[in-house]
Amino acid sequence: MADIVTIKDVQTIITQPAGSRLVIVKLITSEPGLYGLGCATFTQRFHAVYAAIEKHLKPFLIGRDVDRIEEIWQMSMVNSYWRNGPVLNNAISGVDQALWDIKGKRANMPVYQLLGGKCREAADTYAHAGGSDKHEVVDSVRKYQEQGYRHIRIQMGGYGGQADALQKPEGAPEGAYYNPREYCRRMLDMIEHVRTEVGPEVELLHDIHERLRPSDAVQFAKDVEPFKLFFLEDALAPEDNEWFRHIRTQCATPIAMGELFNHPHEWTPLIQNRLIDFIRMHISQMGGITPARNVAAFANMYNVRTAWHGPGDTSPVGHAANLHIDLWAPNFGIQEWCRFNELCYEIFPGLPEVRNGYLYPNDKPGLGIDINEALAAKYPPKDEIIQWTQTRSPDGSPMRP
Ligand code: CO
Repeated sequence: MADIVTIKDVQTIITQPAGSRLVIVKLITSEPGLYGLGCATFTQRFHAVYAAIEKHLKPFLIGRDVDRIEEIWQMSMVNSYWRNGPVLNNAISGVDQALWDIKGKRANMPVYQLLGGKCREAADTYAHAGGSDKHEVVDSVRKYQEQGYRHIRIQMGGYGGQADALQKPEGAPEGAYYNPREYCRRMLDMIEHVRTEVGPEVELLHDIHERLRPSDAVQFAKDVEPFKLFFLEDALAPEDNEWFRHIRTQCATPIAMGELFNHPHEWTPLIQNRLIDFIRMHISQMGGITPARNVAAFANMYNVRTAWHGPGDTSPVGHAANLHIDLWAPNFGIQEWCRFNELCYEIFPGLPEVRNGYLYPNDKPGLGIDINEALAAKYPPKDEIIQWTQTRSPDGSPMRP
């Protein structure tokens, strides 16, 4: 019998080369020089993920056979008995993605080969256009079209919009205020304007970021129907999942959902009942490549497509993992892309590149991405109290971000 390669050490690297604190697991094996990388990025609570990996997962994993990805994932998920929270799922994802990276390196194959091979050469992506008014949004869309993007998300004034019509009560606290009803009026006008200006061919997307009351979200999905969005994202909060049925029965606007999900009970009924068109979990938040592969295969049976979450708080390693699943999945839909800065490409050699809106792999074994630890260490994470999640309605009461 061949020698078993085992987990020798689990290291946690935290770095902040741009806006987000990135958490990377480096899994060292008993074979000299062989290691894997995985994304465990939960930027708002990175200390908690660090402790979960270093204090709880590491002692549990040392000495285990690196080939047994499925067994390690299943056992890691229930070893704490309580499961499916964002902290533990991210910690498990770091290990899971690193194990897929190692298996690919051992097989001398990219991870997409291990999943079943390519259905496409590159993943089509969408970029984020924005502006403070509808004219700036049009300019921003045109800029991305010139760069070759075919799919463009359009936002105005950030998530929740810029609330002008605010009459706060005296003594109302500071916070990230927005007005849901005003949002509906302004965004409808913006989307109509952009579609009129740029024509029917470019695919437009919009993200409500779960900021509307359910009945307003149903009305908004109906109102934007004539402008033929590629998808409408996070029309509802996970707590309002039951309302998707109402959107579905009243309009044909394609619906994308899932970035906040971390429990199978959140995504399974939406797929099974065909209440959404795109499933878009944050892959580290759901526990890594292993569960994402299962969801993609499950969604394929219902003709629901994938659109994995891909903002700046998915690390470059996480984006590489997204891409390998994208290249394989028969039901791939679109990949969100955040356009990393030059420094991120230096810290993470092998970070996939976009040309004409398509995201390409580099065909190296495993995930095909590495980390320059010395350079990463020059950008330590900064502690801060998160402001943008301190959202408030016009009367000052707390709202979901
Ligand atoms: Co989103």
